[in-house]
Amino acid sequence: MTAALGKDLIGLERLSPDQIRLILDTAEPFKEVSERPIKKVPALRGKTIVNLFFEASTRTRISFEFAEKRLSADTVNVAATGSAVQKGETLVDTAKNLEAMRIDMVVIRHASSGAAQFLGDRIRSNVVNAGDGKHEHPTQALLDLLTIRDKLGRIEGVKVCLVGDILHSRVARSNIWGLTKLGAQVAVCGPHSLMPRGIEELGVTVLRRVEEAIEWADVLNVLRLQLERMEAGFIPSLREYYRVFGVTVERLAKAPRALTVMHPGPMNRGVEIDSRVADGPHSVILDQVTNGVAVRMAVLYLLAGGKPELADAAKGPAAGGTD
Ligand code: CP
Repeated sequence: MTAALGKDLIGLERLSPDQIRLILDTAEPFKEVSERPIKKVPALRGKTIVNLFFEASTRTRISFEFAEKRLSADTVNVAATGSAVQKGETLVDTAKNLEAMRIDMVVIRHASSGAAQFLGDRIRSNVVNAGDGKHEHPTQALLDLLTIRDKLGRIEGVKVCLVGDILHSRVARSNIWGLTKLGAQVAVCGPHSLMPRGIEELGVTVLRRVEEAIEWADVLNVLRLQLERMEAGFIPSLREYYRVFGVTVERLAKAPRALTVMHPGPMNRGVEIDSRVADGPHSVILDQVTNGVAVRMAVLYLLAGGKPELADAAKGPAAGGTD
């Protein structure tokens, strides 16, 4: 158990503003490591980390793996396909068997809300939530916060609107916790059918029209329509959704101030976002991906007991060469 973050990172709901700032500040010195010819430091040498990805992922899985390797940890990747999960083994049995091999940390993505907490309560290893059902995706929100801070120089007072499928989005929930704790003004915008009832209780304003969102916000974080989590009937059609809620060049042209556009990926181009916006001058979407590695390095480093004040020193060259 580390004093800085506790044993596990389950969600931003549990973190204090100071803990969130600590992660962002610890990520800063780790950014530079990824720019080096030899992208490796010794901070987690000797630690073993298992990445349990029981749901599809490109950015999060690869970014955690890069973060672990760049910190010199030993890593193993486990997917549901090809593991004993396919034979009916439970999540806890899988994790306990991994612990019997003396691992130190588990990074888990799972379709069930609460899976990360469930695991964290039952194993000794640190658990990092890489996205659990509709609950939270804390490292995505942390990298979003870091990207906003990089781009605008601050988070406090910035107006951020999350646009799209709020109902099914763990990214939205983690962003709302993180942004409100750091003093941003937060709004959500999307179809009534994709807006959780009582969302205002989390301290956000509901905007019904994307044009209103564009007029109000400094930052739009455009969310993916999570078609795999929807039963039928949430929206009339994808074309209709794009017509009413799509973030397009024509709509952005009416923004009264410079607008930053984010998207956690993967994008449905031509559904929630116009390709010309995704690839255009407002977009920081690939900066988000770059920041993901540094943020995940910071989370792993702090959970492993790394001292925040030593993060700068920890990014020194790997002793004894690379492996
Ligand atoms: N943003 C995000 O979680 O992307 P992946 O599903 O590709 O990991």
